[in-house]
Amino acid sequence: MKKLLLLVLALGYASQAAAADPTVAAAPPMGWNSWNHFACKVTAADVRSAADAIASNGMKDAGYIYVNIDDCWEGTRDEKGNIHPNQKFGDMKALVEYVHSKGLKIGIYSSPGPKTCAGYEGSYGHEEQDAQQYADWGFDYLKYDWCSAEKVYQRDQMVDVYKKMHDALVRTGRPVVFSLCQYGYGRVWRWGASVGGNLWRTTEDITDKYDRMSVIGFDQDGLEPFAGSGHWNDPDMLEVGNGGMKHDEYITHMSLWVLLAAPLLAGNDLSQMTPETLSILTNKEVIGVDQDAKGVQGRRVAQEGPLEVWAKPLADGGVAVGLFNRGESTNPITVSFKDIGASGSAKIRDLWQHKDLGSFSGSYTEEVPRHGAVLIKVQ
Ligand code: GLA
Repeated sequence: MKKLLLLVLALGYASQAAAADPTVAAAPPMGWNSWNHFACKVTAADVRSAADAIASNGMKDAGYIYVNIDDCWEGTRDEKGNIHPNQKFGDMKALVEYVHSKGLKIGIYSSPGPKTCAGYEGSYGHEEQDAQQYADWGFDYLKYDWCSAEKVYQRDQMVDVYKKMHDALVRTGRPVVFSLCQYGYGRVWRWGASVGGNLWRTTEDITDKYDRMSVIGFDQDGLEPFAGSGHWNDPDMLEVGNGGMKHDEYITHMSLWVLLAAPLLAGNDLSQMTPETLSILTNKEVIGVDQDAKGVQGRRVAQEGPLEVWAKPLADGGVAVGLFNRGESTNPITVSFKDIGASGSAKIRDLWQHKDLGSFSGSYTEEVPRHGAVLIKVQ
């Protein structure tokens, strides 16, 4: 019965015009988030150094704008109920001003429950007050993570719970990217935009392992009708550079995320990055696929055992195509042009290498290493 109610609610909401503010996330948001690398150890100094890195290492030029604090910044509430940061953060307004002074934007994190996932103070019963506090500090982005809300609400109240915070943010008058994090429950992609979500997590947490990343990424097929300018599916933040995957596996991660029009939130320590990591994160032709003005999420167009072909139509009439080898040895992978709506011959460009590969008739085949990917543009 509860499931039926949720479905009815979801369908009802989905049929309304999207309420998500398209001006703040016209393209999938790009930036950095503290969680995947720093988790609960994050400090204000880590956030400052992430901002320093983005502003000076080419990431800002490549489109990375949001510097997002995840869980574990929260302190206690005072007698008026106002939330204060903990000792690791100190003066939040000063931190926000610092990030803004670099020409970047800054994000914060909370939960609709009494506690966040890491057990810090959540926004339950203080939604209005917290939204106003974030706006007063100058935040531009809020990730709102279900966590302990599970203990005080029913799942079929999720829609109202998320809408409540969105409405509170709107009342502050400050444009804020609203990031829903509830792991895909209640088929959030059907109603996320109607409650003001600019992005919504579609899965539980990513880890820095090929198996976990690929299960999440390759499972996104079918969600593409729900993404568009201002409201995006979020398969979770990047692990590129965190050390748990090999080069080819990170190439798969990034190629797949851009084809999915996923938010690109780097999750590594930007102050300690290798040139290889930086070049994966900042390849402009690859990022161009993610940020493309057509705003269409890609999908799987062919599969043969562990070999997959994914395609994303682009604004200029070209198609970005990923050839993915999930197998354990090098394999040739073919994209058949008819599978991507092209016919005759087409020009192929390798986007990672910035190289024109020539004209091909009917199909294109390339050897792809184990766990690796090739990202091409077909035109
Ligand atoms: C959940 C989220 C993560 C992160 C942690 C913080 O697990 O899915 O992305 O925000 O909480 O505690």
